[in-house]
Parts: sequence; C-alpha cells; structure tokens
Amino acid sequence: MAYETIDWQQNGSVVIATLNRPESLNAINQKMDHELIDVLDRLRNDNSIRVMVLTGAGRAFCAGDDIKERDAGENENELSRDLSGPGSVLTNNYLSLWNNVDTGKPIIAAVNGYALGGGLELALACDIRIATTNASFGTPEITLGFFPGGGAPLRLPRILPGSIAMEMLLTGDRFDAETAYRWGLISHLVEQDELLDKATSIAERIASHAPLAVRAVRELAYGTNDMTLSQVQRMSAFSRWIIQQTDDAQEGPRAFVEKRQAEYHGR
Ligand code: HXC
Repeated sequence: MAYETIDWQQNGSVVIATLNRPESLNAINQKMDHELIDVLDRLRNDNSIRVMVLTGAGRAFCAGDDIKERDAGENENELSRDLSGPGSVLTNNYLSLWNNVDTGKPIIAAVNGYALGGGLELALACDIRIATTNASFGTPEITLGFFPGGGAPLRLPRILPGSIAMEMLLTGDRFDAETAYRWGLISHLVEQDELLDKATSIAERIASHAPLAVRAVRELAYGTNDMTLSQVQRMSAFSRWIIQQTDDAQEGPRAFVEKRQAEYHGR
C-alpha cells in the first residue's frame, strides 16, 4: 500500500519508512498521523518484516506536530486532541505502541536533521537512535505554550541524566548532534551520506537474529520497569525457558557447530 506522506521501502526483512513532507520539515499533519498508525500496524502484523528504520526526507527528521494546521484550527488529528486530554490514538501509539513492546519489533531512528517536539518523541520511542552531524534535538513545546504530550517528559529522564533531561524539557532549547552523542541520546554520529547505510547495517544485523529471541529481549527490557527485581528475575527465567523450546534456539548452536550462517524462522 502506498502512502501520501510516508515512503515505504521493504528490502528483505528490513523496512525503511521515510517521513516525506520535506517542504514542511516532515511536520506531522493529520494525514501523516493516520499513516504513521498504519505503518505501526503493518510493522506489527507482517511477519516478513523484522526491523524498521525510520528516517525523514530532506533536512529534517521531523519538526513535530504541524503547527500551521493547528493554528488554522484544521488540525483535528489525534496530536491536537492529546493536548486537551487523554485518549488520543497517536498518544496511545507513542506511549504504548511506539513503546516497542506492542509492535514486537525493533525500530531504528535514523535522524537526518531536526528532531523537534513530536519528532524527537518519535525518535525517543525507537529502540536505537543514530544521527547525522547536522541533526539537532529539542522539545520546543514549552516555548509555544504546549505540553510535550508524546512522551518526552517520561522518556528523556529515563534515557539521559536528570539535569540534562530537565534542561532540555524546561528550556525548550535545541541541542546539536555532537552534544546528543556525548550524552548518549544517539549511539552513532555519522555523515549525511553514511546514515542509511549505517542504519540498515544495524537493522540487518538484528534481522539476522532469531525473531522470537529478539522479541523476548525487548519485552524484558521495556516491560519490566515497574516490577521488583524478583519479578523481573522470574520473567527473565520464564522467557529464557520459552525461547529455549523454539526451533531457532536449536538452529543457532547447530549452525555454529556446522560453521555456517544460521537460518531463523521465528518458530
Ligand atoms: C508546520 C513547519 C513546522 C511545523 C517547520 N515548518 N516546522 N510547518 N509545522 N512544526 C515549515 C515552515 O513553516 C516552513 O514553511 C518550512 O517548514 C521550512 O521551515 P523554516 O522555518 O523556514 O526553516 P528554518 O528557518 O531552517 O527553521 C527550522 C526550524 C523551524 C528551526 C525547525 O522551522 C521551527 O522552529 N519549526 C517549529 C518546530 C517546533 O516548534 N516543533 C514542535 C511542534 S509542537 P514555509 O511555508 O514558510 O516555507 C509538537 C507537539 C507534539 O510537536 C505533541 C505529540 C503528541
């Protein structure tokens, strides 16, 4: 299925989804909002996809919610409604679907420029973030009188040291890619022409692993924040026991012994 605001390219088991409204720095309008939700559904439901790379066309990853639509009062999308209360489809997607537990599959944010507001929040909801040297990051909502409703106040303090996260959230200032790299907000800093190669190589590396094991690791990493240590240990032991029963868990050691590449089928 083709989208109007998102370019979707599947190569093998890796999808590259490109936010594609470069004239508006890939700001999320109503159309993109709905298409993003569909992209997440596809990622979750299509067994031929193992990993997704999310990037942006032009000089931005995403400049956040479409402020012009909002100003014109045309923006009936879930992003705007989120500002006046809970129950937004997209906020729920940001907070749970994008939370990487429900899609069950890793997403790599390949940040090619501005990642601001809802754009940064999309990147924060991904498993891995890499960026180009010209990228910048910020939560300007506070300067507009908005609340960063897509998860930044929840996620930034969990990803960054507290003082840095709060400076970002409360000043609304933009930080450059070098600073983001130093803080650990991104795991690789690359030149523009290297971005997709780097993101794709990480994606393919992950996609070559047993999908059920990848899923179980993510479930444990993201799904246990509120648990006690003994609960997490039990969940970890249970996951290990389940994964040990899969065909793929037999295939890995067999391939190692036979000195060949393992072929995993997610069973
Ligand atoms: C709509 C936007 C936009 C946005 C940029 N554009 N950001 N349109 N919504 N968020 C448009 C500009 O109006 C302009 O259109 C074109 O994109 C290029 O942008 P410029 O401003 O000319 O580029 P530049 O001077 O390089 O400045 C880049 C920028 C600036 C620093 C990123 O555009 C900016 O500050 N944008 C707003 C970023 C922001 O505040 N985002 C947070 C939104 S609130 P024209 O037609 O003039 O060429 C949010 C809430 C999320 O995200 C809630 C989640 C639930």
